[in-house]
Amino acid sequence: MKQYHVGIIGATGMVGQRFATLLANHPWFQVAVLAASSRSAGKTYEEALGNRWQMSTPIPEDMKNMVVLDAERDRKKIAESVDFVFCAINMEKQKTRELEEAYAKAECPVISNNSANRGVPDVPMIIPEINPDHAQVIETQRRRFGTKRGFIAVKSNCSIQSYVPAVTPLLNLGVTKVLACTYQAISGAGKTFRTWPEMVDNLIPFIGGEEGKSENEPMKVWGHVENGVVVNAAVPDITTQCLRVPVSDGHTAAVFVSMEKKVPMDEIIARWENFSGEPQKLNLPSAPKQFLHYFREDDRPQARLDRNLENGMAISIGRLRPDSQYDYKFVSLSHNTLRGAAGGGVLMAELLCSKGYLDS
Ligand SMILES: NC(=O)c1ccc[n+]([C@@H]2O[C@H](COP(=O)([O-])OP(=O)(O)OC[C@H]3O[C@@H](n4cnc5c(N)ncnc54)[C@H](OP(=O)(O)O)[C@@H]3O)[C@@H](O)[C@H]2O)c1
Repeated sequence: MKQYHVGIIGATGMVGQRFATLLANHPWFQVAVLAASSRSAGKTYEEALGNRWQMSTPIPEDMKNMVVLDAERDRKKIAESVDFVFCAINMEKQKTRELEEAYAKAECPVISNNSANRGVPDVPMIIPEINPDHAQVIETQRRRFGTKRGFIAVKSNCSIQSYVPAVTPLLNLGVTKVLACTYQAISGAGKTFRTWPEMVDNLIPFIGGEEGKSENEPMKVWGHVENGVVVNAAVPDITTQCLRVPVSDGHTAAVFVSMEKKVPMDEIIARWENFSGEPQKLNLPSAPKQFLHYFREDDRPQARLDRNLENGMAISIGRLRPDSQYDYKFVSLSHNTLRGAAGGGVLMAELLCSKGYLDS
């Protein structure tokens, strides 16, 4: 496989640090550029991080002394020195959109974790096991930007990764309604218990903008491509409540589903256990062997025990049982900064590489 030079925009943040650790020994991707805001620019990665490094493994040795560039001011230089960038920045939405577009227009593809471009119909929002075919809208986007290589592809919000994968294998049973309550880790806000002590022994029943994303984004992932753009799915109806809970990593969802076709519990479990997609078929480096794991124990999945399953790239499901108001209910869990953020971004990039979208 060809080696790709990549950049991490937002390298000093929570998701950026995950990218750095995941890419440190990646077989296809070599980190050539680290970039962040003007606050970090000009410092070595280690200096720019100060005491902000949150990963359980040390800062990758070959990145420690790399000088951090300014993602805005050094854009041209960055775009010229890498094959594509991963982007995870905390910046105002309109400015993020402009920055990502500027990289794409400079012929530097952007694999984005930000929400700014998720609603754009010719920007694919890919969960590689579910909708890899949406990558084809990149051609429409390239025509809009007038580029040969440059484009933006986005990851969905981390909250939906805990229930959309579990609902997907049931869709052809005619899923009509989904209710999901999410219990989201503090790393989803870029925080730890040290930087957010108010979260110890606490629960906050509000995450700004999260319920809108959690209800809208699945419809794009489950949508289809028509006339070169993604057309959102019209069903199922989804309603959500998103709560912040005192867990370091791992978003859990309590999910209820109604379906037109009634099937026994065994069939639902079999559908989960037999579900796999392109990443498994292509044997992509970051793909979990088994995407959906069903636990038969009553007290699973648990965030601490199960979030790192298959390097944090698998989804854990448990507690499937009939419900008196919906047909079934269950609980599912995903690692929010791995599958839900950086790991999902790396897997999407591997998928796009294997399909030739990141070649010149
Ligand atoms: N945490 C998660 O689980 C998660 C999951 C999915 C998606 N996301 C999304 O990923 C993005 C980053 O989240 P995070 O949790 O990693 O945030 P974070 O820890 O607050 O990090 C933010 C990063 O953005 C950089 N930044 C801020 N302003 C900038 C500017 N003007 N130009 C360039 N870089 C700038 C910061 O650089 P400095 O250090 O120089 O300030 C830092 O590297 C957000 O859009 C978030 O919604 C997060």
